[in-house]
Amino acid sequence: MRKQIVAGNWKMNTTPEQGVELVKSILKGIGTHCGSVNYIVCPPYTHLSEVTKITRGTNIRVGAQNCADEAKGAYTGEVSAEMIASLGVDYVILGHSERRQYYGETSEKLNKRLNLAYANGLVPIYCVGETLEERESGKLWDVVKAQLEEVVFGLTDEQFRKLIIAYEPVWAIGTGKVATADQAQEMHAFIRKTLTVKYKELADKTPILYGGSVKPDNAKEIFAKPDVDGGLIGGAALKAEDFLGIGAGF
Ligand code: 13P
Repeated sequence: MRKQIVAGNWKMNTTPEQGVELVKSILKGIGTHCGSVNYIVCPPYTHLSEVTKITRGTNIRVGAQNCADEAKGAYTGEVSAEMIASLGVDYVILGHSERRQYYGETSEKLNKRLNLAYANGLVPIYCVGETLEERESGKLWDVVKAQLEEVVFGLTDEQFRKLIIAYEPVWAIGTGKVATADQAQEMHAFIRKTLTVKYKELADKTPILYGGSVKPDNAKEIFAKPDVDGGLIGGAALKAEDFLGIGAGF
């Protein structure tokens, strides 16, 4: 049985004060919803200190949305994996399509980020996914395979054991166009098969999350698929009720 995970990627939303309120609302609601679900919240860097304090000893874990590709030094504006981990953060999202698209993140940089995350005890949530054009031209399989081979395949077995993958088709992010449960399952099975080539039976345990317009009313059908182990949630993670409503989809 794989872990069931519902992770909220808040992106560049909320002030620290609003973020704390949101986490408090999630904590308040969680008593009635939690069950076997592992909830993770990924607020902006500026909120991490406060959010890790109020979630300590609770059922919610905390993730960052990125980390630097260097360990330390003259990199103005960057935040290192060590800084993040020192706050009690457990996870870090890496390779989100918004980072690839707007900030030029390459596989080479992502390799460095993953290694720094592991070196500091952070669990990476590594994102893959195709654009609409890539899907429509039939390139989706090659694109996702390359995103896995170029970054994940460099990991040792020990590192791979801790990895979480998120499949986020770019065309479904923030658009309200959710992949059908069958489309999600088809790609998740492909991802697992691709990982199995290198990591054999270890790939059976890797949580693969779906992301892209997940809402309380579509989560259940998507999470019911055998290779879907949870969700990486954007917009709907900003409302405690919706975030927990998605978790109730398990
Ligand atoms: P939405 O849920 O807003 O489509 O965002 C998904 C996402 O990008 C999570 O990382």
